Amino acid sequence: MPRPTEVVLPTRRERFDDRRKDSSQRKLLDEFFDHRTLLTISRLITQGQFDSLDFPVATGKEGGVFRATAGKEFRAVKVYRIGNTTFRNLPAYAIDELRRETSIRDFAGLVYAWTRREHTVLGRLADAHVRAPMPFGHLRNVLVMDFIGNSEGGAPRLRDAQIDDPEAIYLDLVEQITRMLRDAKLVHGDLSPFNTLLFEGKTVIIDVAQAVSIKHPQAAALLTRDLDHYARFLRHLGFPVTGEEFLHAVGGDRLGLPAAGS
Ligand SMILES: Nc1ncnc2c1ncn2[C@@H]1O[C@H](COP(=O)(O)OP(=O)(O)OP(=O)(O)O)[C@@H](O)[C@H]1O
Ligand SMILES: [Mg+2]
Repeated sequence: MPRPTEVVLPTRRERFDDRRKDSSQRKLLDEFFDHRTLLTISRLITQGQFDSLDFPVATGKEGGVFRATAGKEFRAVKVYRIGNTTFRNLPAYAIDELRRETSIRDFAGLVYAWTRREHTVLGRLADAHVRAPMPFGHLRNVLVMDFIGNSEGGAPRLRDAQIDDPEAIYLDLVEQITRMLRDAKLVHGDLSPFNTLLFEGKTVIIDVAQAVSIKHPQAAALLTRDLDHYARFLRHLGFPVTGEEFLHAVGGDRLGLPAAGS
């Protein structure tokens, strides 16, 4: 039993910090883990998709990504938020695509369809041998996929990674995008150094829910914008490439995509 003089009472500041930590923790829990999402996660655990959620890897505007453990492996578990307005900010073409694919009755239904869409697109990318997380399953607003990273943590975004050889990154991206167009017949639609990870020196494409078919009327415009993002990033790293050169390198100008803006 410590004597009263040995007990160090927390200062006002420490008590305040503790309370703030508690409340930010609660906020995170409230945002992602509403009752239904918790049930969904527990159902996925029962299905054997993973054993436990370890920690949040990132929390973005549409949702949070958590690392999970499945036996001796890791998984990434992406939880789409239901209770926010992000989906109202999605580009109209993406919402139109969803409405074409599903009959959506309510906001939650839209989020579930979006989650399923990301799972489907990841499957198509895997079939086309595009380096992207392998999908393992989905339920309602929760998607389970390969964790890109190792026991120390998630792979950095291309934007934050240390890049010594930008030309190698360019060639790798050309190969990935070529496969995506030619074999998966998809345009990503939100490509950037933020939605690309760098793992073991190779690029991995993520965040694919808004991808559209190369036959989509907006395909050319989206592809041009995606490649412009990459080209600008590579030029900053000292590798001179234009959006047009990139488009040519991935065969985007030979696919007969519907003309931009048509
Ligand atoms: N499969 C994965 N393995 C490891 N980390 C991942 C994986 N998927 C996503 N992440 C991490 O989570 C972050 C957010 O993922 P993603 O881009 O898919 O979601 P988002 O909701 O669009 O978030 P943001 O709005 O920040 O782009 C990524 O930047 C990456 O750091
Ligand atoms: Mg993203």
